[in-house]
This record gives sequence, structure tokens and C-alpha cells, in this order.
Amino acid sequence: MGIGYGKVILFGEHFVVYGLPAIAASTDRKTEVVISEFNGEGILCDYEGRWEGRNLLEEDEETEWFRKIVFLLLKELELEGKSFKIQIKNNIPVGAGMGSSAAISVALGRALDEFFELGLGEERVSELAFKAEEVFHGTPSGIDNTLATFGGLIWFEKGKEIEKIGVKEPINIVIARIERKGNTKELVGRVREKREKNLEEFRLLEEKARGIVGNAKKTLEDNNLDELGKLMDENQKLLREIGVSTEEMDELCEIALKEGALGAKLTGAGGGGCMIALTPEEELQGKVAKGLEEKSLEVIKTKIGV
Ligand code: MEV
Repeated sequence: MGIGYGKVILFGEHFVVYGLPAIAASTDRKTEVVISEFNGEGILCDYEGRWEGRNLLEEDEETEWFRKIVFLLLKELELEGKSFKIQIKNNIPVGAGMGSSAAISVALGRALDEFFELGLGEERVSELAFKAEEVFHGTPSGIDNTLATFGGLIWFEKGKEIEKIGVKEPINIVIARIERKGNTKELVGRVREKREKNLEEFRLLEEKARGIVGNAKKTLEDNNLDELGKLMDENQKLLREIGVSTEEMDELCEIALKEGALGAKLTGAGGGGCMIALTPEEELQGKVAKGLEEKSLEVIKTKIGV
């Protein structure tokens, strides 16, 4: 079986595309892919809760995005023309900023590696998922495929070795999901346009982002969670300034803070999607989760730094 981890970006989304650092963590959400023998012709695919018995040789609107990933990986791995069966299980919210597309590519890469005994190694699996992300997201920083492959709590800078961040103990967070307007490619494109139009102004925001992420690493390592929460709020302000938050997202952050969260911000590309709130004590986590229920499509209580 191949696994890919869902992630939350704690600090630095969007700015990470331009070479600035970011901090991200895997959660308990994941995608699992199992590949097995198929005696017929083609690639038979079941995706639990979505579709069953689809042959990926046949064009089909619903499976189109996944067919693209599969055929891209098969080409890269020189496995074109092989017949097999794929079974997918996923509990990462889809299209919500939690890295579900990277997770499925990583899980598929690992499952192909196992079934065809390719001996790919982690770096190659991550690189294959990056190629798939390029198809969907245009100019990804690489943070999603990296987290989906390696998991953990990491400091990420484009093109550099990842650095694991050590925390005293796992930290409770709440994730709340709302509807998303626009996909990652559009949102990243919109920010890029804004940056190009007014580079000088954007550079000032980049320097602020760099400061926030640097301080966040230290506060995580020092277990200074009050300060960490404040940095999340500051990061959310920056995301609002670059235009990727929405009124509904700001409202969600406000609710979380009113319920006692130490900090709250959107996570991922924005335009709606997911918000994360810092809620160290279990009781607080429950209270914040409950407060968010009414305005959310889904509320998840989870931990980072596990
Ligand atoms: C998407 O999960 C994170 C973005 O920063 C894009 C990227 O880093 O590729 C918005």
C-alpha cells in the first residue's frame, strides 16, 4: 500500500512560491492507494465513496484529473501499457488547501513502486508528485509534495533540504473548512500578477513574511504557544493583504479567536477552503471546534508535530 499525507501550512503559504521559507505539518489525514493484479486490459480503478470499476483507458469527465496523474507517472516510470487495478481511500478534504492532490500522487507513486518493485526511494516519489502538481498548479513551490511524502513538522524553502522542527509535545489544532472560490492555480496566478504589478510593495510584505516564519520556528521550538498564536494572526493579516482571504474566512478566524483560540489563519492557497486555529488544551480545542460548527462544512480536531 502507498500512503500520502495531508498537510496544513502553518506559516508562509504563497510567499513560499517566491523562495521565502514556510512551516508546514502533516495531520492524521491521509490517502491510501493499493495496486493489485488485473487480468483484463487497462487500469481498473475504484475510489471509495466516489467511483467504482472505472477503466482509465476510457475517457470520463469525473476521472479525468486522476487519469492525467496516472498516465504522467506511468510515462515517467516507463510503465505505459501495463494493466493493473488501483484502489483509493482518502480522508483528506479535497480541493480545500490540505494537499489532497499531492497526497494522492505520492500514494500512487509509492504503490506503483511497491507493486512493480521499482526501488524508487522517497526523493523520486516526491519528485514525481511535484511533476503532477505542476500540471494542476502551474508553479508549485514543492511544499505540498514534500509534506505528502515525508510528513512531520518541517521548515521548507524551495530548492533546499527540508529541516525537521522539534516540538516538546504534539500541539492540538482545529481545522474548519468552508466552500472554496477558485483553485490553487488561479489563486497563485492572482498573487503572482499582484506581485508583478507592484513588486516594491510586495517585497515589503515578503520581508514581513520572512520575519514571521523565522520567529514562528523559534516559538515552536521554545513551546511559546501564546506568541505562536499571535504570529498566526499576523500571517493571516498578510494573506488578507495579498488578497487570498475571504470575508467568510475572516469571520471563521474571528469566531475561533472569540472562542479562545491563541491564533487563527487560513491554510493553503485560500479563497475559502481551510482555516487552522491554535488550541493547545483539549478542552479549548473542543470549545473552538463547537463554536466553528455552524459556519463550517466540516470541523476537524487534530494534532501537529506528532
Ligand atoms: C498550496 O498548498 C500552497 C501555495 O503556497 C502554493 C505552493 O506553495 O505551491 C499557495
